[in-house]
Amino acid sequence: MGRFDGRVAVVTGAARGIGLAIATRLADEGASVAVLDLDEAQAGAAAEQLPAEAGRPHLGIGCDVSDTGSARAAVERVVGELGALHILVNNAGVTRDNLLFKMTDDDWDTVIAVHLRGAFAMTRAAQQHFVQQKYGKVVCLSSVSALGNRGQANYAAAKMGIQGFVRTLGIELGPFGVTANAIAPGFIATDMTDATAARVGMPVEEFRQAAADRNPVRRVGYPEDIAAAAAFLCSEEASYITGQTLYVDGGAKLVS
Ligand code: NAI
Repeated sequence: MGRFDGRVAVVTGAARGIGLAIATRLADEGASVAVLDLDEAQAGAAAEQLPAEAGRPHLGIGCDVSDTGSARAAVERVVGELGALHILVNNAGVTRDNLLFKMTDDDWDTVIAVHLRGAFAMTRAAQQHFVQQKYGKVVCLSSVSALGNRGQANYAAAKMGIQGFVRTLGIELGPFGVTANAIAPGFIATDMTDATAARVGMPVEEFRQAAADRNPVRRVGYPEDIAAAAAFLCSEEASYITGQTLYVDGGAKLVS
């Protein structure tokens, strides 16, 4: 018996990184999972590698979450092909880091569009199914950067926006059996943080070691750390938790 037997989950931005780890964990515990990502072939390849047994399909869908039509179409396809929707993980994300005086309109708009309009568009499309069946779980990815991070005015604004978003969803959707929470990861070893290393001109291992040295638990985080928290928030054990942001950061927030 898995915690998510019979459940259908959508994880956005799940072709790699944290999203793929969350999709894998949910599938491992019994869910049928739709992997959404920009490129349908990559989403399909990720879906194919998820744990599965006969009669429990997964699905890969090409979707740009910042495009409300694309988000709506993806949700309808999931419900059509997998039969229902119970869990939505808004994970898709991008960075366009720059100090404020160098940040372009495009840097700002892209980050806000993917994180905030993306989470909004996906959740609005999913909520009609959640409300109808009086059941739903929403988990959104925030970040420790929500608390402020040099070079990330756009990203910090979007990630703090996510925290306000789930608080409001908690109020509006609670009466319909829907919980909504956020996870705020600290440094997680993925392509996203590797790209940051490249941008600041540091070898990946050195960059990770520096992050580990600054962290109270003296290590970096891994996608599986976030997947474990997401699975908990999507489980029945978390049914009295809503509107919250859980920092999964090895205590980074405590010393920042
Ligand atoms: P990643 O860059 O490895 O993966 C992000 C995925 O999102 C990619 O597969 C990408 O194609 C997809 N994506 C980007 N724009 C999209 C769009 N418009 N529509 C659909 N898919 C799109 O990133 P990572 O590290 O796995 O991050 C996942 C989430 O966790 C993001 O929301 C990120 O902001 C957040 N996060 C990551 C941290 C880290 O240290 N890696 C720390 C805090 C938060």
